[in-house]
Amino acid sequence: MNQPGPRFWEVFFEVYESLPRQGPGNRACAARALGLCRELPQSPAILDLGCGVGGQTLHLADMASGSLVAIDSHAPSIERLKAAIAKRGLAQRVSAIVGDMARPVQPLGSFDLVWSEGALYNIGLRNALHVCHGLLRPGGYLAFSDAVWRKANPPPVVKAAFDLDYPTMGWLEDDVATIQDCGFELVGHFTLPDEAWWDDFYTPMEARIAELRVKHANDVEASATLDQLAEEPDVHRRYSDFYAYEFFVARRPLARARADMAEALEQQHAADASRSAPIGELDDHAGMTYPHTRR
Ligand SMILES: C[S@@+](CC[C@H](N)C(=O)[O-])C[C@H]1O[C@@H](n2cnc3c(N)ncnc32)[C@H](O)[C@@H]1O
Repeated sequence: MNQPGPRFWEVFFEVYESLPRQGPGNRACAARALGLCRELPQSPAILDLGCGVGGQTLHLADMASGSLVAIDSHAPSIERLKAAIAKRGLAQRVSAIVGDMARPVQPLGSFDLVWSEGALYNIGLRNALHVCHGLLRPGGYLAFSDAVWRKANPPPVVKAAFDLDYPTMGWLEDDVATIQDCGFELVGHFTLPDEAWWDDFYTPMEARIAELRVKHANDVEASATLDQLAEEPDVHRRYSDFYAYEFFVARRPLARARADMAEALEQQHAADASRSAPIGELDDHAGMTYPHTRR
């Protein structure tokens, strides 16, 4: 397949940048995922990766107090988000930055919550999960959505669309296994309902495409691009039972830190005891290693 040319991308962004969001999702789903992060601090430090124009960033700013850093590699989207932040008077606690989520400049272990809707797959899910794990403090949460297959043997038009956009897309079980492999505990997950595809994404997309068809009526290349972009909502209308967007909430375990501390304390107690107690007394304590080595 030919690589899209510059005119394709101009028209693509003319459509996408104007939408409230650049992928499926809505406020209700964000609220549900946030609700699964039960032990967040009162004012969490939140990082939103691949924020686009910040549809979910603004929802998060509304639903959670604390600070929010939103990152996207597409500068015009960040400009739009900055304007929305300023308009809403959120600049004290929300910042939008152009950046590559594969190479974050934020300090390791500095976030209570890393959020990412429909974006992690761009740098490979496994790679992205390692990046997120590093950015979270122990006990911190990761909330992200990702496309997954839900029915085998998709029609060629569906297979072709995902071969282009997300060729490594797996099944729900694959994502769960990757989450666990990358050192997270899975807290919960749910499938985005159909309205989360339409309300803030495909419905405004189809309206924008209709508007641009008029504007570009005499531009053959732009019209062909609009035809191509219109296929996505249409494919979803016909074949959405073959794929889904799943919202996952996972947690960087506290357990390791706790286990390390418990082990260190146990060793300290055992060392103290071996220095002060008579050997006979210590032999009665089951599970203590030091007395046995001294038999
Ligand atoms: C499908 S859109 C989702 C946007 C937004 N999260 C939403 O749900 O509306 C994916 C976003 O990831 C961004 N992106 C892709 N690769 C990136 C990277 N390496 N670093 C930061 N952002 C990236 C794109 O610019 C795009 O805005």
